Amino acid sequence: MKLIRIGKTPLEVSRIALGCMRLSDNRDTALDTIKAALDGGINFFDHADIYGGGKREEVFAAIWDGNPGLRDRIVIQSKCGIRRAPQRFDFSYEYIVQSVDGSLSRLKTDYLDILLLHRPDTLVEPEEVARAFDHLKQVGKVRFFGVSNHMASQIQFLQKWLSQPLVANQLQFSVVHTHLIDEGIVMNRSDYPEPTRGEGTLEFCRMQDITIQAWSPLAGGIVSGKPLETPDERIEETAALVARMAEEKGVSQTAIVVAWLLRHPARIQPIIGTTNPARIAGACQADDVELTREEWYSLFIAGRGESLP
Ligand SMILES: NC(=O)c1ccc[n+]([C@@H]2O[C@H](COP(=O)([O-])OP(=O)(O)OC[C@H]3O[C@@H](n4cnc5c(N)ncnc54)[C@H](OP(=O)(O)O)[C@@H]3O)[C@@H](O)[C@H]2O)c1
Repeated sequence: MKLIRIGKTPLEVSRIALGCMRLSDNRDTALDTIKAALDGGINFFDHADIYGGGKREEVFAAIWDGNPGLRDRIVIQSKCGIRRAPQRFDFSYEYIVQSVDGSLSRLKTDYLDILLLHRPDTLVEPEEVARAFDHLKQVGKVRFFGVSNHMASQIQFLQKWLSQPLVANQLQFSVVHTHLIDEGIVMNRSDYPEPTRGEGTLEFCRMQDITIQAWSPLAGGIVSGKPLETPDERIEETAALVARMAEEKGVSQTAIVVAWLLRHPARIQPIIGTTNPARIAGACQADDVELTREEWYSLFIAGRGESLP
């Protein structure tokens, strides 16, 4: 598996990562998933304090048994900031520090390689985030920091107060969820409704050396073999094109969907969420797939359901 550097950090990681949100509660099943990822060359694991109410981090810790030295060979990222019952976002000093302590204890590790702020908290006091990050860095509990679901202006706003650089931004991104690219193509046209107010987030992250991580990169499998519950022409046509390309190249359909993200020069890191060992192996085939410009654009056009302007 080829490696990418996260932001300007010294972290050289697999360009495909495993998302742990859907890991099984069953220890052996979860271990099968994690081992399939390691076998495929994946060394980067994405968590959040809220996944399974903490159970996903807990079950992940089973990987340490019988694997001395493994901690130094893998990169663990977790997130904080979403709270439930009652629902709110919380970037307070106390909550960030408390959340990291919880993650470390469930993961049975002394440090997180990366901590992401999960979703923008409009009540954020950036000085508090700065204080929390400085503290966590100083005591060695977190090595690097980033954000998730943040647009360019929100990153700039936070960074003004932080002494720690934001090194990653995790965003929803797949061949059928293309707003980050679309907004750069349809700007200044009155015949398109604004799909998002991303404000050039893709370009901003590239300029600032902030690694873009794609969440739900497989779009839940709907264009790589999972039957649709209700008919949808755009999805069906994209799935047909993915299937045809997979056949031509002799790789899995999942590999084509992942390769579409990898082909973008932004060096996007797909955070695949499949728990199925065969599908993980199929996704890792993407590392060897080179899509041409023509192939990439044909998938993009199918995925957005509209030809280029
Ligand atoms: N930052 C955020 O706000 C945020 C939000 C959501 C997720 N995430 C991160 O992103 C990761 C991935 O997210 P995700 O799991 O939603 O995305 P995903 O990788 O697009 O989808 C994975 C899901 O799709 C299913 N799937 C994939 N291919 C399939 C196929 N051919 N047939 C049937 N089912 C198929 C998988 O089932 P199997 O397990 O059976 O393969 C699994 O349930 C998460 O683990 C998490 O780390 C972050």
